[in-house]
Amino acid sequence: MRKKIVAGNWKMNKSPVEAVEFARSIKDSVKGSEAEAVFCTPFVCLGPVMDELKGSGIAVGAQNMHFEDSGAFTGEISAPMLKAMGVPFVIVGHSERRQYFGETDESVNLKAKKALVHGLTPIICLGETLEQRKQGITTDLVRLQTRIAMSGIEKADAKKVVIAYEPIWAIGTGVTATDAQAEEACGDVRRVLAEIYDNDTAETIRIQYGGSVTVDNAKGLFAMPNIDGGLVGGASLKPDFGVIVNA
Ligand code: 13P
Repeated sequence: MRKKIVAGNWKMNKSPVEAVEFARSIKDSVKGSEAEAVFCTPFVCLGPVMDELKGSGIAVGAQNMHFEDSGAFTGEISAPMLKAMGVPFVIVGHSERRQYFGETDESVNLKAKKALVHGLTPIICLGETLEQRKQGITTDLVRLQTRIAMSGIEKADAKKVVIAYEPIWAIGTGVTATDAQAEEACGDVRRVLAEIYDNDTAETIRIQYGGSVTVDNAKGLFAMPNIDGGLVGGASLKPDFGVIVNA
């Protein structure tokens, strides 16, 4: 039985002080949930929020990392740095990073592999644009994105990965994929994982849905057989995020 995982992606929001205040205000409504909860905060908030969440069972995650361990990469943060801080999760390949910062399926694969080398759990994001959905290539695309993202990752490591299916047209738009649309794409991801590895591995890997998840639609989405929780943007910054984690 896969344990559900609901992660809040705070994106570029909140100062360290604001982040700690917010984490304090919602942690009681989040902790104790059957689902694993993760707050993916800006880098500068990770330490203070981690301190605030100590003992709550709620984890923190970074929103990005570089695929090299160290070097002349001004402004970047590496997996060993996150590991040294005790950060357990890292989002890789979010569509906003692909769109605005030139990330590709290949760089996402390098990051996922490097995260695993250092014992971090990558939350690998993928998903189609509205145009691609209209062209009827959603299944082909998520299959290919999954294959490239998982390339070179051995079975034992693959089981630790979290994949977030986030259709780009649903991110921050208020237009959520229907339960059936989300289930179909998450099922596509699981089927290709079974082809790459085997059924047992595919059944172990957790697959989230992301894109305008709210308190109103979370329960339906998370009840679908291939959806193991969510990656939540806007609604993770609201006081009732705990309702989503408990959905
Ligand atoms: P929204 O929940 O705001 O649509 O954002 C989704 C997202 O990008 C999570 O990573």
